[in-house]
Amino acid sequence: MKGIILAGGLGSRLRPLTKVTNKHLLPIYDKPMIYYPIETLVRAGIKDIMIVTGGNSAGDFLRLLGNGSEFGLKDIYYTYQEGEGGIADALKLCEHFAEGNRVVVILGDNIVQDDISPYVRRFEQQDSGARILLKAVPDPERFGVPELDGERIVRIEEKPAQPKSGYAVTGIYMYDRRVFDFIRRIKPSNRGELEITDVNNHYIREGDLHYDVLDGWWTDAGQFESLFNATQLIARERLGTGIGS
Ligand code: DAU
Repeated sequence: MKGIILAGGLGSRLRPLTKVTNKHLLPIYDKPMIYYPIETLVRAGIKDIMIVTGGNSAGDFLRLLGNGSEFGLKDIYYTYQEGEGGIADALKLCEHFAEGNRVVVILGDNIVQDDISPYVRRFEQQDSGARILLKAVPDPERFGVPELDGERIVRIEEKPAQPKSGYAVTGIYMYDRRVFDFIRRIKPSNRGELEITDVNNHYIREGDLHYDVLDGWWTDAGQFESLFNATQLIARERLGTGIGS
């Protein structure tokens, strides 16, 4: 199993914080944001990792992370996404790295409390397909939102005005090799991006999208409120429950 961290894009929703640096280098409490997805993958036993970066300060990833020895890695692979073509556009740059293997993909601004190992093990036991992780949230309209029929996801909508459930599709995705074929079939959305939601809907149509619901907390850190929230959640983990409550 290989790991991919998507840390491209321009972080425009966090300007001026991202005017001269990359969103994923901003601090979340005591570490740069990018540390958290790396630690999530390493904790799940994934040591073959590619980071897709982009935008400003891409060279600083190398200065910060080097060959990954701080995380117990032998090396880290890097690639660069031009512009802000979307999550699926960033992922497609990793086809040669994946070499036909299954991949665990995590968005560089997603921070998760749980050890994701049990979910990754369940994905390994699947014959094929994809596996996503859901989390109940108070503001599903900010995310990809699954429509459920009983236990089955029948469709995912990207940032719907009228969400069909109270779940967010988190930015942790597990895919078999077909993911790159599906990316080739999708077209840019209204916001001009290749959407990961469209890729996931392909797996739904194939009847091969599976999911788990996360137990612990999860957040993105791509907007001022969620960046602040992420810092508070990590501070509470480190210092105990009194902080920020
Ligand atoms: O956080 C989970 C959500 O992430 C999902 O629920 C949504 O379905 C999914 O589309 C995504 O939504 P956002 O609009 O919040 O994604 P955002 O544009 O903020 O990008 C999240 C990360 O993805 C970003 O930190 C780096 C990576 N990315 C994004 C874009 C647009 C890239 O690597 N390249 C890109 O072009």
